[in-house]
Amino acid sequence: MLIEENKSLKKYNTFGIDHSARHFVTVFSITELEQILKDTRFEKKMILGGGSNLLLTKNVDALVIHLHIKGISIDFEDENTVFLKIMAGENWHELVQYCLSKDYGGIENLSLIPGNTGTAPIQNIGAYGVELKDVFVRCEAMSIKTQQIKTFTREECHFSYRDSIFKTREKGNFIITSVTLNLSKKNHNTTIAYGTIQDELDKMKIKNPTIQDISKAVIAIRQSKLPDPKILGNSGSFFKNPIITITQFNTFSAAHPDAPFYKVSEEEFKIPAGWLIEKSGFKGKRFGDAGVHEKQALVLVNYGNATGTEILALAQKIQKEVKNSFGIDIETEVNIL
Ligand code: EPU
Repeated sequence: MLIEENKSLKKYNTFGIDHSARHFVTVFSITELEQILKDTRFEKKMILGGGSNLLLTKNVDALVIHLHIKGISIDFEDENTVFLKIMAGENWHELVQYCLSKDYGGIENLSLIPGNTGTAPIQNIGAYGVELKDVFVRCEAMSIKTQQIKTFTREECHFSYRDSIFKTREKGNFIITSVTLNLSKKNHNTTIAYGTIQDELDKMKIKNPTIQDISKAVIAIRQSKLPDPKILGNSGSFFKNPIITITQFNTFSAAHPDAPFYKVSEEEFKIPAGWLIEKSGFKGKRFGDAGVHEKQALVLVNYGNATGTEILALAQKIQKEVKNSFGIDIETEVNIL
């Protein structure tokens, strides 16, 4: 295994922030991962997947382990269903494309989400009415302390909106090495109720969409409002959509009857943070090389040479303004280091 020193992480985070790792290694197998975790020369270790949910605000004084463990295999299969086991280093969107080529249904709505498969369960990735938890069977994860592999079932992962046990009780304790998904082989149970998908399919003049059509619609929607990290550094939604109580919601909607919202339960409502940020005047604004995307205010962008500190300062300014204008706290979705 090649251990590099003072390695720039610019290529390894989709924000394109130029901070470095004190030490850096790429691991290609479970055995290599075990070996490097046992290596006592490096006290502090950090895992890096696709780097698509990360804001670096300083150099990382640790051994950064870049997971590049690949492989897709079938765990179980019958006439209707396939349980696909995917190793952590597989790129998520390439996995979606692979499933579409085999006509496996279930993750077509999650097309074009950046990042790797191994990090998908951590924040329970979701888009256009589908979340990872809807198709998740289990994941395997290596304990950083003991190097034992533990299996987590869907229940054990405690999934909720952009959240799982890997962000709470087990934060920093495990490295997810594989994910197993339950996908359909026929009679796909598609989700097109999410407004913009139906509009896009109408535009494409498609009445009975296949999973491949749905993927195309999702890709078209995402490309129309979300910046491509290869062209403009970003990390998707920087904030989570806030969930407020019915009491807060009643006051909020009386003052802002035009605000969009989703009902989460009888007691809770979700408000799009993008709307709150836009109404606070930030959409399309640029401060040096840090900015708020012109087509989706939930996305912060790096126009070239922004530092992580500048992006973080902008995020904090937005949080303060939204709180002042609406009395609502918005939390970051991205991990800040
Ligand atoms: N809106 C605005 N202004 C904006 C952005 C949005 O008014 O600048 C309004 C829209 O008009 C719409 C509502 O907010 O009424 C919702 O917007 P959109 O459908 O774009 O979705 P979102 O709630 O902003 C969430 C996810 C996205 C996911 C989409 C589609 C979070 C934090 N974000 O965004 O996920 O693609 O729904 O399901 O939940 C990501 O996590 O990186 C991500 C892109």
